[in-house]
Amino acid sequence: EKVVLAYSGGLDTSVLVGWLLDEGYEVHCVYVDLGQPCEDIPAALEKATKIGAASSIAVDAKEELCRDFAFPVLQWQAKYESIYLLGTSIARPLISKVCLQRAREVGATAFVHGATGKGNDQCRFQLAAEALEPELRIIAPWRMESYRSKFPGRTAMLEYCAAKNIPVKASVAKPYSSDENCLHISYEAGKLEDPAVDGIPIIDFGMTVSPQEAPDKEEYVTVGFEHGVPVSINGKKLDAYSLLKTLNEIGGRNGVGRIDMVENRFVGMKSRGVYESPGMTCLYSAHLALEQLTLDRDLVHLRDRMSPEVAEMVYYGFWYCAKMDALMAFMRETQKPVTGEVTLGLYKGNVRPTSRKSPNSLYDEAIATMEGGGSYNQTDAEGFLRIMGLPLRVQGNSRKRPY
Ligand code: ARG
Ligand code: SIN
Repeated sequence: EKVVLAYSGGLDTSVLVGWLLDEGYEVHCVYVDLGQPCEDIPAALEKATKIGAASSIAVDAKEELCRDFAFPVLQWQAKYESIYLLGTSIARPLISKVCLQRAREVGATAFVHGATGKGNDQCRFQLAAEALEPELRIIAPWRMESYRSKFPGRTAMLEYCAAKNIPVKASVAKPYSSDENCLHISYEAGKLEDPAVDGIPIIDFGMTVSPQEAPDKEEYVTVGFEHGVPVSINGKKLDAYSLLKTLNEIGGRNGVGRIDMVENRFVGMKSRGVYESPGMTCLYSAHLALEQLTLDRDLVHLRDRMSPEVAEMVYYGFWYCAKMDALMAFMRETQKPVTGEVTLGLYKGNVRPTSRKSPNSLYDEAIATMEGGGSYNQTDAEGFLRIMGLPLRVQGNSRKRPY
């Protein structure tokens, strides 16, 4: 039987290649390039074929990740449980899609992933696969008793690699698990499992300096948007991935975008996670500032009520579904006027919009001015408030006042 494996080149998925071969499968490895900052792709592919994979390919999906997955989520201003920018969550449906395309090419009948049976990633991989390729079988070895008893921990995996001549990077094991792409790096498990323990001294951050080490001077960066899509940095047009990469560097050197939270996984347990997403944090701030100028009040309030719902769907893994398609159509409509430029000031972990401009601005200085004149007639507020206050007056007259 032919299977496609979502392969990263790390210890876990390398062991998976060997184990799948032991089980008699023909293994086709897919490395989905999402801009993981510190991977050696050719070495990873070569390693898979050395272990015995029938094929091993890399697919560049960086631009697609930013343009078609992360930016729509940004336009929603979607944050899971108010702060997590969904950097891992949103990448999973794309990894599934790329692997399923490969499955079709090679005629594979199963899709294998290395997510544990305890987390969110298994949900996202599988729910995407159910939607895109309902006939395909999912193999999740970590959910199989036989696999877990064979590989109870890292030591057993390292022993297996030594016995099978599977090359393992000589790196010392990090005291946590991480997942990275161009949107963010996540850190969880290991020493971070105790939520009372500060993560900062434990984590070797890959994208940001700590705010204390950041420059003592505020740095300014201008982000341009067209219809809610980020298109330029400091006046220079860039494709989605290059734009985010640039903002990761600028935000990262100013210590922007670190968060530390205890989150509720889809499977029900609480989990402690630390994240750094410097570029996306800048984009959320700039995008919001431009919406403040260009979007109607009631429309943006409606969007803000629905945004936690979108975040939850992305986090759980309901990406390819009718409800998400409808929500995205709504979002595209809202973003039509969100065109213009926002300048951000970045300083020791903080981001503040310092200036915003749009040809579609709804901001009217003549109406808003505190100076005399203008086109707002204060007398109109008299009737407005008599009407708005009517039910309150009725309640006030019928109520006993304890105060
Ligand atoms: N808790 C985050 C999420 O659910 C990050 C998951 C990281 N995954 C990993 N395999 N290390 O999106
Ligand atoms: C995993 O379980 O594979 C990582 C954590 C998660 O998916 O939530």
